[in-house]
Amino acid sequence: MRKKIVAGNWKLNNTVADSEALASAVAELATEVEGVNIVVCPTSVNLYPVKAKLNDSVALGAQNCYDKESGAFTGEVSAKMLTSIGAEYVILGHSERREYFGESNEFLKAKTDAVLAEGLVPLFCCGETLEQRESGIHFDFVKSQLTESLFHLSAEAIQDVVIAYEPIWAIGTGVTASSDQAQEMHKELRDHLASKYGQEVADKISILYGGSCKPANAEEIFAKPDVDGGLIGGAALKAEDFIAIAKSF
Ligand code: PGA
Repeated sequence: MRKKIVAGNWKLNNTVADSEALASAVAELATEVEGVNIVVCPTSVNLYPVKAKLNDSVALGAQNCYDKESGAFTGEVSAKMLTSIGAEYVILGHSERREYFGESNEFLKAKTDAVLAEGLVPLFCCGETLEQRESGIHFDFVKSQLTESLFHLSAEAIQDVVIAYEPIWAIGTGVTASSDQAQEMHKELRDHLASKYGQEVADKISILYGGSCKPANAEEIFAKPDVDGGLIGGAALKAEDFIAIAKSF
């Protein structure tokens, strides 16, 4: 059985006080949910105070980290620093980081290695633009993101990675991929993983969907056989909505 995961990407939102309040509300409601790994990912400055508000029902994740452990890298945060405050997950390669901060597949490969070496679970994001989808190259493009950043990993190591398929055209737009579109891409990615690592390994890797996922559409998307949960942006900023999504399996 693959792990079911619902992770909230809070992006660049919330002061410390706002984050603490949201974390407390999520933690309280999360005790009603069983069989789902619930994760919240506040911005780095809010990780530590948020951790103090969580309970065993909610894990902490970061939105990014650097590939080096320490040194003269002003402004960066390392995987070791994240584990030292109790983080268990880290989002890597979100399309916003790829687009606005120029993160390449090569750089994400190094980050993945650093994160796995520290025992953190990478929530590795991939996804195509609308233009790529319309020109029919979306499957090849998204598969190449996995090939270039993850396929150097051993069959053992890849099982510690969680993949998040987030079509860029669905992120923050209110336009969701249909459940069939999500399933089609997830199946394509699982087949791609199987071609490299074998079906048994591919069947153990959780693949989350992200992009305008909300309580009204989560149930239909999560019902698809290759969808193992969601990476939630906007709807994760309201505890009730976020937990309603986590209850959608
Ligand atoms: P959204 O964001 O749910 O607001 O579309 C998802 C994400 O960017 O992870």
